[in-house]
Amino acid sequence: MAKVTVVGAGNVGATCANVLAFHEIADQVVMLDVKEGVSEGKAMDMMQTAQLLGFDTNLVGCTNDYARTAGSDVVVITSGMPRKPGMTREELIGVNAGIVKSVAGNILQYSPEAIIVVISNPMDTMTYLSLKSLGLPKNRILGMGGALDSSRFKYFLSQALGCNANEVEGMVIGGHGDTTMIPLARLATYKGIPVSTLLSAEKLDEVVKSTMVGGATLTKLLGTSAWYAPGAAGAFVVESIIRDQKKMIPSCVALDGEYGQNDICIGVPAIIGRNGVEKIVELELTADEKALFEQSAAAVRKTNAILKEINAL
Ligand code: 2OP
Repeated sequence: MAKVTVVGAGNVGATCANVLAFHEIADQVVMLDVKEGVSEGKAMDMMQTAQLLGFDTNLVGCTNDYARTAGSDVVVITSGMPRKPGMTREELIGVNAGIVKSVAGNILQYSPEAIIVVISNPMDTMTYLSLKSLGLPKNRILGMGGALDSSRFKYFLSQALGCNANEVEGMVIGGHGDTTMIPLARLATYKGIPVSTLLSAEKLDEVVKSTMVGGATLTKLLGTSAWYAPGAAGAFVVESIIRDQKKMIPSCVALDGEYGQNDICIGVPAIIGRNGVEKIVELELTADEKALFEQSAAAVRKTNAILKEINAL
């Protein structure tokens, strides 16, 4: 029996729980929120779709009652403030660091073996903070940004190519920030055909740029941060863990010498299975890609350094 907890029943958390339930990825899903009644109400609403959509997942909500989350195999953390139009993800650190740290601590008390998937922003730094403050083995914690950013990359590629997004392959590595993510255009393909042979350099550059500001574009349109793709990306990562699918998913993981980096959590392709991060895949990057990765890591480190300034670490 697989049990998954989603902490934070806002737009992203609720969407993630909904996808987990609808696709029966776990037998039991617990949503937990600090706001009285919100997760209970959303869980009840979703359970009233079970007969319409034909799923058997047992989904419940609770207000801050961590005992209800006990024995979870995977815990998704979405808690904290979403960004408002014009804000960067990094600006959320002051508010979200304390929240994420205390949530992660509470979770581990009741689910000491859980694998933790971080969605809260700034995601790379929140993953690093959870790893450091909990002292978890590094296979048991990852951030979902790469799954989301890669899905956005494939969407923009499919729009440019006028093709089915499911027939496009593409990866985004680096940080989950407007200026830190690195869509790997060189490795993107349509049915195995390099997209660089199908799109002009200008068009490809446009796709890369749209991908990088994909979240900001939606925040501007919606007045708050996006939730359908972020929630579904969280569920996609959870599925690979629960079902031991061993998918290669660009994920924010702790690096220990890989890609020439140490003491950082940042997006690189990884094999995600029942043990969480089962293997980090080291791509051969070009000199330009390497330089972008180094810049991205430096920017993530700069945000991580704020954790000390605000006494979160
Ligand atoms: C996004 O990119 C929420 O960071 C998330 O939409």
